[in-house]
Amino acid sequence: MSDSAIRLGVNIDHAATLRQARYREAAAEVARFVEPDPVAIAAASLKAGADGLTVHLREDRRHIQDDDVLRLKAAGLGPINLEMALSDEIFKFALDLKPQSVCLVPENRKEVTTEGGLDAHGQREKLLPICAALKDAGVMVSLFIDPEPHQVQAAIDLKVPFIELHTGAYSNAYDTPARARAFEKLCRAAEQAHAGGLKVNAGHGINYINITEIRTLPHLYELNIGHSILSRALLTGIKEAIATMKRLMNEK
Ligand code: PXP
Repeated sequence: MSDSAIRLGVNIDHAATLRQARYREAAAEVARFVEPDPVAIAAASLKAGADGLTVHLREDRRHIQDDDVLRLKAAGLGPINLEMALSDEIFKFALDLKPQSVCLVPENRKEVTTEGGLDAHGQREKLLPICAALKDAGVMVSLFIDPEPHQVQAAIDLKVPFIELHTGAYSNAYDTPARARAFEKLCRAAEQAHAGGLKVNAGHGINYINITEIRTLPHLYELNIGHSILSRALLTGIKEAIATMKRLMNEK
């Protein structure tokens, strides 16, 4: 594969969601003995061609648990992209863990998944020391933002190396006229970020259908995909699910 191939980060939270549906009360010491083990899914994903792993440690620990992330690290599985909200407790965890990257996301306790992008523009003062501390710890910072010019500009001003464009509005538009408008916004945001020196990732709601358009976004470095891959894997196995997504991502 050429150097310009789009990288695939697999979000394994959904495997943990399935485990927690049955074993929420199980102690951390037994979590590795019950199904599905997100660490086993992570290992299988990397073997199948994933370029990295994404885990979102939520304040309420609704899916991935601290112990899962520590086991990933201990097993040398990665690179790990840790998604986290601006929480002191998880920030300390991140500084200890030192994953390859941290993606800062908003968090609303009630939402099932991440609904909107981080307000990098409005939270600039709060973000400055957090981004600086992560950088000092050798962790690359990414900001999960909506494809809005003022949010992209805020990321450029904060001098983070990455943004992850929130593709949720695009994905939720399915095949309506809103999809083309949402795609156009994503394209403009990617161009702006690239011109400002940032690497461009994207994620949320990317599936085996919309990938054929998403892959044409300019300057894409990495896509973070979880739900569609884990769902397909129930039918076809993780190896096929990842191989097919990687092929679709990089088809010309
Ligand atoms: N990127 C971010 C920042 C996310 O929060 C999520 C999951 O909500 C994803 C990517 C992956 O989204 P999906 O599971 O819809 O592929």
